[in-house]
Amino acid sequence: MTTLAVLTSGGDAPGMNPALRALGKVCAQSGITLLGVERGYEGLLEGAFRPLVTPGEGGGAPRFDRELEGCQGWGGTFLGSARSARFREAAGRAEAAAQLAEAGVDGLVVIGGNGSLAGAAALAEEHELRVVGLPASIDNDIGCTGLSIGVDTALNTIIEACDRIADTARAHRRAFIVEVMGRECGYLAMAAAIAAGADAVLMREQGRDERAVVEAVEKTVRAGFDRGKKRVLVIKSEGVRVPCTKLVRELNARIPGDHVRATVLGHVVRGGAPSYMDRRIASRLAFQAVRAFEEGQTGTMTAWRATAEGGSKTVDPTVRLFPLAQVLEETRAVLDGTSAVMRWRLEMMERVAGVLGV
Ligand code: F6P
Repeated sequence: MTTLAVLTSGGDAPGMNPALRALGKVCAQSGITLLGVERGYEGLLEGAFRPLVTPGEGGGAPRFDRELEGCQGWGGTFLGSARSARFREAAGRAEAAAQLAEAGVDGLVVIGGNGSLAGAAALAEEHELRVVGLPASIDNDIGCTGLSIGVDTALNTIIEACDRIADTARAHRRAFIVEVMGRECGYLAMAAAIAAGADAVLMREQGRDERAVVEAVEKTVRAGFDRGKKRVLVIKSEGVRVPCTKLVRELNARIPGDHVRATVLGHVVRGGAPSYMDRRIASRLAFQAVRAFEEGQTGTMTAWRATAEGGSKTVDPTVRLFPLAQVLEETRAVLDGTSAVMRWRLEMMERVAGVLGV
């Protein structure tokens, strides 16, 4: 095993850079050359390789890419990311495999969300190439792993924003709807609602139609103000496809006093310096990914605090390796709500929902 390549793909996540840096350090220790691929699968198709770690000659010190050395505190990904339509086709993946072969790459690490990991699984299946995935997505919608890289930082960002909004809401006795990212997964909204002391949470998984969403929020706002609360906070996942502008209009029409406002956090949730926890998760997953390559594994993903049966243990009790096929199947179950872990989370949320507004 002499050369690994690594790419970051899909929505960037805080913690991707610490994962890249950890990969580099472990490769250097093992005498492995590490090539970075710029701009995800798109860059791979263009052969956009960049040396990140070059082992020293005759016991000399390895050479590191300067951005790699200093990136542990940066949000985003210094390699860049992209979404690639071409790579979704088998022909595109064949081109990518040819680029990797031409660059003398023995294995590829893919750091990304469920779309990126699906591409990694297809590449591993269709070509003689070792591929290992690291789960990185603020949505936390990846199967088999309790947390993906980026989730902890995203939650801290949301909570800080909600605390700030609560200050101004109290000053004006207002109800705020704060919309957070998460695509189809309500995990960010659910976890943030508890930590931010929200009065209610809106998630796609609750299966409400527009009218039911409006009525649920109206009930929460009325109850909060009737109990003399100075601020009411509702956290809404973007997967609830009722625009905040429409919600605010409807609610101010139903509740006199023009008390309702909304803030859509959007991409703010994805930025920021990675938290300690995300740096810890990123480093530990990266370490085991290199070990997996050295053991000849392929088509697997390193998972943090496994949420599914099976997989294979690593020397790190918190990290387990799962076949990408199982990860993708479990991810589908997370998104359609049939996965055991998602059912448990939703049951917990139902129980907590009653307490949120008290
Ligand atoms: O998957 C991560 C994510 O941030 C989602 O939460 C969000 O809906 C999506 O990416 C936004 O994608 P883009 O940055 O391409 O607009």
